[in-house]
Amino acid sequence: MNKLIVSLLLTVGISGIAHAAGDATAGQAKAAVCGACHGPDGNSMAPNFPKLAGQGERYLNKQLHDIKSGKRTVLEMTGLLTNLSDQDLADMSAYFASQKGSVGAADPKVVSRGEALFRGGDLAKGLPACTGCHSPDGKGNAAAGFPHLGGQHAQYVAKQLTDFRKEEGGRANDGDTKPMQSIAKKLSDEDIAAVSSYIQGLH
Ligand code: HEC
Ligand code: HEC
Repeated sequence: MNKLIVSLLLTVGISGIAHAAGDATAGQAKAAVCGACHGPDGNSMAPNFPKLAGQGERYLNKQLHDIKSGKRTVLEMTGLLTNLSDQDLADMSAYFASQKGSVGAADPKVVSRGEALFRGGDLAKGLPACTGCHSPDGKGNAAAGFPHLGGQHAQYVAKQLTDFRKEEGGRANDGDTKPMQSIAKKLSDEDIAAVSSYIQGLH
């Protein structure tokens, strides 16, 4: 298919066009190696390993392609995806998307600041509310590829926001319009700590 048409279709949120449909059952067997870090069902125990359970399939598939191609650097996964096909990536994405994500707890000391930021943004700084794309309950928008955030480890979330904020050597795979890079640049360290803690307890 013409590249321009594919990107237009993706922009309006039609998923499953550019990639093969995933098979969750086949994906479970293929994802056995991932369990050591992400947990067998995608609910990782360690706070630096993201939970994948219940994450949107389209978002997962995009991250796997970005990690495989080096567009997003994940040192811990170096070489792990090299020999996997597009179908393998789609199947593992379908498997983790079909699992139920666990929820943690927010730090009561910062939860109100985190909630205010997540729900209301910060007008003075020109910061949009996170709910606009990630939804009020943190579920995201699976069809559009906006990730599910609710219940994610605060340490992992804070690292992503810090990485999106970096001028160089950070995370820059958020597409041509760079929504997360421009948002993260408006967040202070305290904002990041508060909103990440709020997200960990959000469901
Ligand atoms: C040795 C540990 C390790 C193994 C094994 C591993 N990962 Fe990861 N993975 C990570 C880390 C660490 C990150 C997050 C890096 C960062 O901070 O950006 C990550 C990130 C991801 C992400 C992005 C999640 C998000 O929310 O954006 C996906 C998807 C993923 N891994 C899938 C897999 C799959 C599928 C496998 C098995 C083929 C796998 N990982 C194996 C450590 C691992
Ligand atoms: C305009 C839409 C939009 C808004 C508003 C938005 N985000 Fe995002 N966010 C995205 C998209 C799209 C991605 C996925 C980028 C990619 O494909 O790698 C993302 C990714 C993320 C991630 C990485 C998730 C993961 O699993 O690695 C975090 C954390 C995040 N956003 C937090 C926030 C917070 C906190 C706010 C509010 C301060 C916010 N976002 C506001 C669109 C948005």
